[in-house]
Amino acid sequence: MAGEWVKIGEANELAPGQLIYAAIEGLPVAVANVDGSLYAFSDACRHEGGPLSAGVLIGATITCPWHGWAYDVRTGKSLVPPVGLRLATYPVRICDDAIWIEINWE
Ligand code: FES
Repeated sequence: MAGEWVKIGEANELAPGQLIYAAIEGLPVAVANVDGSLYAFSDACRHEGGPLSAGVLIGATITCPWHGWAYDVRTGKSLVPPVGLRLATYPVRICDDAIWIEINWE
């Protein structure tokens, strides 16, 4: 079943190297611009729920501001132990100069 596409901001609000945050019906989502490509992922760190959109983005690596866990925003995979953890990721696209994210509520 197809998900729901939700507009979360304007494309010109998200320059390369930047992050934005959106709450979609209570679901915390972050979007990162990595060299012009956008990646959407859960804003809640898998450690204790730290706000990843307030973290540091270097290349495709986001580092949590609370205790330093790091993830690859392209895949959601954790880059530090415990290995194997993964953030939820979401399809993202730009349409009519806006950023849209696909959420599957199932
Ligand atoms: S909450 Fe993110 S590293 Fe602890």
